[in-house]
Amino acid sequence: METQNREIISNISKKVERQFRDDSSGHDWWHVYRVWKMAKKISAGREVDFFVVELGALMHDMADHKLADPEKGYRQIKADLQAESVSDAVIERVLHIAEHISFKGAHVEQEQLSTEGEIVQDADRLDAMGALGVARTFMFGGSRGNLMHDPDIAPEYHSGFESYKKSTAPVINHFYEKLLLLKDRMNTAKGKEIAEERHRFMMQFLNRFYDEWEGKK
Ligand code: ADP
Ligand code: NI
Repeated sequence: METQNREIISNISKKVERQFRDDSSGHDWWHVYRVWKMAKKISAGREVDFFVVELGALMHDMADHKLADPEKGYRQIKADLQAESVSDAVIERVLHIAEHISFKGAHVEQEQLSTEGEIVQDADRLDAMGALGVARTFMFGGSRGNLMHDPDIAPEYHSGFESYKKSTAPVINHFYEKLLLLKDRMNTAKGKEIAEERHRFMMQFLNRFYDEWEGKK
């Protein structure tokens, strides 16, 4: 990648780090950092626009409904990239990623993403799986004041983004409503391979959780 683009990536990463440093809902800077690294790993050896992949990864949560007003987020992405003299064409591609990457409910159809968007989405989804996925989900649930687990509340498979967004279900339900569905929704071969492994870990975690819940272990 050209030196100039490297510098832009470095400046944007510092800006995102400042903005997300204090988040305690599982969407802190280190989540962004992991998605950025993983997106690079998935991109390795592929014919993709690395600049768009890296910017998309770094800025993917800036317009997330869970964290901010999306419209304000899009304006900020645009302003931050314009301040770095990034071309309008690249800005459009980064905005498209930020707009369409997020999971919107089990039965809600996924928007068509660019190849770069598919890579960032896989990296973001992988960070919602495995040990990190477990940890982040409990952070998120705790930050929202949701219950940890209530065996009497069944998971819901949301058919609309509005109801998914508003859900205050216990954290364990989120595994069924989203996390365990991810391995079958991966876009890339490399992402799918890592997802299978992380999925197995989440299943082990849940089985152990239920065993301990009933005092079996
Ligand atoms: P997405 O954009 O697909 O929603 P994010 O990277 O923004 O993905 O992270 C979403 C993560 O936040 C989930 O994987 C989970 O860890 C946590 N999360 C979101 N909604 C809930 C919820 N209702 N209960 C528990 N955790 C949640
Ligand atoms: Ni994310």
